[in-house]
Amino acid sequence: MVGSSIAFLCAANAIDDIILLNRTKSKAIGEALDISNAIPKNSDITIKGTDDYSEISNSKIIVITASTGVYLKNRNEMIDAQVKMIRNIANEIKKNCKSPIVLIISNPVDVLTYFFIKETGFSRNNVIGIASALDSSRFRYLLSKKIGINQSQISDAFVLGEHGDSMVPVFSNTKIDGKNVLTIINSSQKIEITEEIRDYWKSLRNFKSRSQFGISKNTFDVIYSILNNQSLLSPTSILLEGEYNQKNVCMGVLTTIDSKGISKIHQSELDESEKKSLDHSAQIIRNNIESI
Ligand code: LAC
Repeated sequence: MVGSSIAFLCAANAIDDIILLNRTKSKAIGEALDISNAIPKNSDITIKGTDDYSEISNSKIIVITASTGVYLKNRNEMIDAQVKMIRNIANEIKKNCKSPIVLIISNPVDVLTYFFIKETGFSRNNVIGIASALDSSRFRYLLSKKIGINQSQISDAFVLGEHGDSMVPVFSNTKIDGKNVLTIINSSQKIEITEEIRDYWKSLRNFKSRSQFGISKNTFDVIYSILNNQSLLSPTSILLEGEYNQKNVCMGVLTTIDSKGISKIHQSELDESEKKSLDHSAQIIRNNIESI
């Protein structure tokens, strides 16, 4: 559903031609036929469904939302099957496509972003894991609820690290109407919000099978910034090569995205506890990578 929702947003905004690729061709065709009716009448973009990788050979952007199943308790549950899947997809893309920018949504996103880069040899600037932007949207929403304010009063609310139980909301940089949030909330509220962000996907499951629209809109924003070369400041999972004293691991850090993919990696100012939490998060991801 996530792939279809992203395609729907792209079509409704007439952003560019779209190809839906699914191992079940009929599913891709069905979604494409439906979304075709969302294309604005003055637009000449097209959308089609296929199961043939040769059809995406000219893609500027490839978005991967595939999954081999549904994880229940933890995003790393199906890690072996998911890594095997991403390796297959990576090889098909390497064989058929020139130099696309690849957005990875599939989980565990940090680990799959890592293996996609290793399998294809694509530049780290062109392989982007999308998830910390979603966590940051949740951070903003939960802060607004806890304090009783509008989300528009919140700025610089970013979540870094693993898209998982060790993710790190950076309270020390977050502002409410320009004032640091830690002058407004107390330490127990900070702990509550951190846990609510980490468990958001689980609480969502009490109401619907999985998240769909939040991740889709955050992915759409990245697609829009790339295709229109409009800089977007957003936390994304990328391969670190020394930033934050981390090497050879993919993790959510603050980046600037534009037509070149990742055009800048920002070294966020962190307090001591945030630095320790981010190092711990990197180790969790590294352990998961090494478990393969
Ligand atoms: C979530 C999925 C996208 O956090 O990992 O809802």
